[in-house]
Amino acid sequence: MAAAKEIGVVGSGQMGSGIAQLAAVNGLDVWLHDTDPGALTRAKKSISESVQRSVSKGQLPQEVGAEALGRIKFTSNLEDFRSADVIIEAVIESEEVKKILFGQLDRIAKGPAILASNTSSISITRLATATSRPHQVIGMHFMNPPPVMKLVEIVRGADTSDDTFNATKSLAERLGKTVICSQDYSGFIVNRILMPMINEAFHTLYTGVATKEDIDTGMKLGTNHPMGPLELADFIGLDVCLSIMKVLHAGLGNSKYAPCPLLVQYVDAGRLGRKRGIGVYNYQ
Ligand code: CAA
Repeated sequence: MAAAKEIGVVGSGQMGSGIAQLAAVNGLDVWLHDTDPGALTRAKKSISESVQRSVSKGQLPQEVGAEALGRIKFTSNLEDFRSADVIIEAVIESEEVKKILFGQLDRIAKGPAILASNTSSISITRLATATSRPHQVIGMHFMNPPPVMKLVEIVRGADTSDDTFNATKSLAERLGKTVICSQDYSGFIVNRILMPMINEAFHTLYTGVATKEDIDTGMKLGTNHPMGPLELADFIGLDVCLSIMKVLHAGLGNSKYAPCPLLVQYVDAGRLGRKRGIGVYNYQ
């Protein structure tokens, strides 16, 4: 399979815009799609500010930054993805939404194109059933923020071919990432381990063992994590954490994965984390 030159990214939120930026800075032509024109405007601004920051810190030559920004095209029309070599989906964590999207992408994308999902826990095998090319469907899970975090977790569905795996691995390495490979079981590797830790931090708070500050300080200074688990949950989004816990609970069928009632209550209250200005902590 020839090396990818043009990629499409669906969903211009934190993950999608970060992936688009990363790809453009590494020399790829990028289409970034969102159904919401307002979201595209916000993505354009945040990508431009982030690239400008790298330029002013001397991490990226001015002309490389300008070229990268010129390589990203913003669109609300999925048909623009017809010449993309790889399409990476980064929309909300809903199997139903992703399956509808994969069906559309399958009709639009050229024959050899790879359809990748940035899903943090949903089954790649099931997403692939919405397409006529299950051997070309794969999980390409970036960590937040994609331009900074060094890892891409590649997830092979039941029918993902070796060619698709190798091409996706080469693309991730071209983006400067270290690759790990997971089989297609709920939560894959990173979230299978990370989310129960975050959920346990909520239980620790819920049962009054300690304050949120002490829980986070304990894990930051006690285990050298860059953020405490509750701070990290706010960073990821409490709704995302809850939906991943539900996928773990349903898929692995063990009560140890049941979401903590406090996490559920915060999400019910709209306390979704940094993006809403309030989660475990108040950012307003
Ligand atoms: N885009 C681009 N660059 C960014 C950025 C963004 N969104 N956010 C931060 N950066 C860059 C900064 O510009 C800075 O760059 P330099 O070192 O070159 O100056 C660097 O990252 C460090 O940033 P800050 O100094 O502002 O802040 P920090 O030192 O506290 O680091 C952090 C911020 C990188 C987010 C760090 O706190 C961290 O690593 N946190 C943990 C993040 C994590 O665990 N992510 C994975 C979440 S799990 C996941 O994503 C999987 C899932 O499915 C839920």
